[in-house]
Amino acid sequence: MKSPIIKTENYIIRPFKKEDALLWQVWDTDVEIQAHMPEPKNELQKIQEQYDYIEECENDEEGYYWSIDSDEKTIGTVSLTEIDDHHKSAELGIVIGDKNFWGKGVATEVIKSIINNAIQELNIEYISAEVEEANIGMQKVFIKCGFEQDGKFINSRVKEGQRINVLHFGINK
Ligand SMILES: CC(C)(COP(=O)(O)OP(=O)(O)OC[C@H]1O[C@@H](n2cnc3c(N)ncnc32)[C@H](O)[C@@H]1OP(=O)(O)O)[C@@H](O)C(=O)NCCC(=O)NCCS
Repeated sequence: MKSPIIKTENYIIRPFKKEDALLWQVWDTDVEIQAHMPEPKNELQKIQEQYDYIEECENDEEGYYWSIDSDEKTIGTVSLTEIDDHHKSAELGIVIGDKNFWGKGVATEVIKSIINNAIQELNIEYISAEVEEANIGMQKVFIKCGFEQDGKFINSRVKEGQRINVLHFGINK
């Protein structure tokens, strides 16, 4: 689906560009950034695979995918996927890949804008998100944005050989 451009107070949320893939190659292999992501390994992907992924995202009829730009550079990605037109629901994912921007309110500002846009423009009434129990930063962000924890998947993921819990958050129109 064509992802709309969304302007927040300090950032521009825009569809992926081919050159974003070069940044992902750095972010995808950064142990700190990947610490609470579901993928099992931080392996470098071939650039062509990243280009293919951008094309898949553009053709995904159930998802919106964006990069987040500050004034001077691209600093992260955000998505609404698993969009269900009947239930008017979607799942949110976010990565602030530029660690210089952590703790500066980027995720909070971006997610609030995505929620407003989803409700006002995209006909979405319920947004969910999954977050590993140890990912305290992400949980704080969701709560600041108005999400409530509405579930817990006990021992549902494997992280470094241990089974861990995943929390489910949701927000309603
Ligand atoms: C988690 C993440 C999205 C947070 O983004 P961010 O832009 O740094 O978050 P914000 O600056 O909006 O933070 C909002 C609040 O959470 C707190 N916070 C953020 N990261 C934190 C952390 N690692 N530990 C504790 N608190 C944290 C902030 O201090 C702030 O609290 P305050 O308002 O009381 O000061 C970012 O660290 C990230 O992309 N991490 C890697 C990828 C990831 O884990 N994605 C989520 C997968 S579910």
